[in-house]
Amino acid sequence: MPLARNDPAQYDELADQWWQPSGGFAMLHWLAASRAEHIPPAASPDAVLVDLACGGGLMAPHVQRLGYRHVGVDLGAAGLAVAREHGVGAVRGSVLAVPLADGCADVVVCGEVLEHVEDDVAVLAECARLLRPGGALVVDAIADSRLAGPVAVTLAERIPGGPPPGIHDPALFVDRRRLLAAADRLGLELRLVGLRPSVRDVVAWRRGRRDGVRMRPMRWSGILFAGYGRKR
Ligand SMILES: C[S@@+](CC[C@H](N)C(=O)[O-])C[C@H]1O[C@@H](n2cnc3c(N)ncnc32)[C@H](O)[C@@H]1O
Repeated sequence: MPLARNDPAQYDELADQWWQPSGGFAMLHWLAASRAEHIPPAASPDAVLVDLACGGGLMAPHVQRLGYRHVGVDLGAAGLAVAREHGVGAVRGSVLAVPLADGCADVVVCGEVLEHVEDDVAVLAECARLLRPGGALVVDAIADSRLAGPVAVTLAERIPGGPPPGIHDPALFVDRRRLLAAADRLGLELRLVGLRPSVRDVVAWRRGRRDGVRMRPMRWSGILFAGYGRKR
């Protein structure tokens, strides 16, 4: 029987796809590179980047290049095993109650998980708790808008590079206004931008002329959005 939409067990079944650049998680590779552009190089050799819902650890090459210790947290044992193979210090746990100490992180990355949980604000609170003052936050997620369901689910699940069918439940997509209000309460300065894949890169990638696709910022954040910020 097929798993229900957003059932996290889907990630266990897809574990062999994490590091296939043209596989079911292709766009996550593009997002990993895009996130890295917003992370400052590590200020010291013991600086820590906590990667919430790290999956198969696609941030690993970027985090190594930037000089951080990479600690990844995820519910999925299969993804964590893959992440470990790529040098991630993998911790099994929920992003809703992360088993790491307050203020342990110089950087928190929270990629493509807010739209998979019942309580996105609780995850943001965990980001704030884990960050040291002045630490950097990078998030990305799918927005709760009238277009997001048709585009990010119905259409995207049918195109190459799009998400695996059944992975998203539009009922969980993220209310950006509520997220920004929560960030302010939690002592996080956060600004949101929309993201889209470069169309030219997608064409070149489809023809085998590029390994990946650059993500482009845009003012409208109504489908895929990123948040860049810091803890006050
Ligand atoms: C779309 S993937 C994103 C993975 C990774 N952040 C990336 O961008 O490559 C979502 C990940 O969230 C994880 N996940 C879903 N709910 C979770 C929870 N409550 N706690 C921890 N991880 C969770 C899944 O196991 C999966 O690895």
